Amino acid sequence: MPSINIVLTGFGNVGKAFFRLIADKKVFCRNRYGLDLHLKAVFRSKEAYFSGRRSDLTEITEIMATGTADHPDWTTKLSLDEVLTELKSGVLVECTPTNIETGEPGLSHIGQALGRNWHIAAASKGALVLKFKELMARANMNGVQIKFSAATAAALPTVDVGVLSLAGTEILGIEGILTGVTNLILTRMEEGITFQDALKEAQAKGIAEPNPSLDVDGWDTACKILLISNAVAGTDFSLSDIARNGIRGVTVDDIQKARDEGKVLKLLGRLVRDGEKDKADVKLTAINRDHPLFHVMGSNKAITFFTDTMGAVTVSGGKSDPRGTAAALLKDIVNIYRHSEE
Ligand SMILES: NC(=O)c1ccc[n+]([C@@H]2O[C@H](COP(=O)([O-])OP(=O)(O)OC[C@H]3O[C@@H](n4cnc5c(N)ncnc54)[C@H](OP(=O)(O)O)[C@@H]3O)[C@@H](O)[C@H]2O)c1
Repeated sequence: MPSINIVLTGFGNVGKAFFRLIADKKVFCRNRYGLDLHLKAVFRSKEAYFSGRRSDLTEITEIMATGTADHPDWTTKLSLDEVLTELKSGVLVECTPTNIETGEPGLSHIGQALGRNWHIAAASKGALVLKFKELMARANMNGVQIKFSAATAAALPTVDVGVLSLAGTEILGIEGILTGVTNLILTRMEEGITFQDALKEAQAKGIAEPNPSLDVDGWDTACKILLISNAVAGTDFSLSDIARNGIRGVTVDDIQKARDEGKVLKLLGRLVRDGEKDKADVKLTAINRDHPLFHVMGSNKAITFFTDTMGAVTVSGGKSDPRGTAAALLKDIVNIYRHSEE
């Protein structure tokens, strides 16, 4: 049975949910897939916890319970490269904050892991958004895989559907509601409350970030449609290619006007392929009742692929929370090893 080393960078909402999920699913993965998953090291911004010769961190339950300062096994003296080198092979699970200007710290983590021929499962988007082609080419050359389901709507399957389930079709276009927070705000505005109140409500519930710009200004959707298009449709978009609207300026009157016309306002990430040039954008769009995304409400997400031979294929749902994101990371790990001989 293959024994798989996992190193986790980032131990915040998603990293902690991933830690718990690996502990919960250890026996299931062994029985169902014949995969023996071992979480060997966790890195935070200033320190790390490495299992050393012990088999698995998830067996050390106090790692979840204790803070860094008062547990002697957390250390500031360990580098990621040392750990990757000592363990030799495995998968790096990248869960540090997304920075779409520099890609850091994820870009350095992914670079080091690829340098040591490790597979990658990423929740952070920055590195891939900025260096998609380069990183995929490097992984390909080294015979390892980069998966990023958790960065592309997480529990809602997007890239896997496009790459695997729609193989052999030509992707004619993509439309997605890819950010749960913006869809939740628009849904609450449908119920008559203002943008500011809907945003405050989402922040109070911990769904929207204290700085909501990545979501409400459309950046998060732009990153996702970029990654999905590049992975599924073979495009080569940079963030600057993607025309972008957010939902900041939307008023209850705009919502009402759309409703009077039998429509609903949605923030769509789109790949538009008409003619020679591919275009991608993030666009606040009034959609009709017969549109496949019309009924997607609240923090739900959904994506429609328009294909030449299979027609329009829509997938919707998936949990929008850290455990759902962690589950997308686990899915990627299972699929990496299901298809490799390692
Ligand atoms: N939240 C979701 O449901 C969700 C869904 C899909 C994708 N994502 C993506 O997943 C990533 C993580 O999100 P999150 O909500 O878990 O963020 P978070 O709670 O802010 O956690 C970030 C973690 O990264 C660590 N970190 C920061 N700089 C680091 C460095 N240089 N080296 C190692 N670790 C470092 C932080 O360390 P400290 O503990 O020391 O502060 C913290 O543990 C983000 O990129 C986000 O866009 C999140």
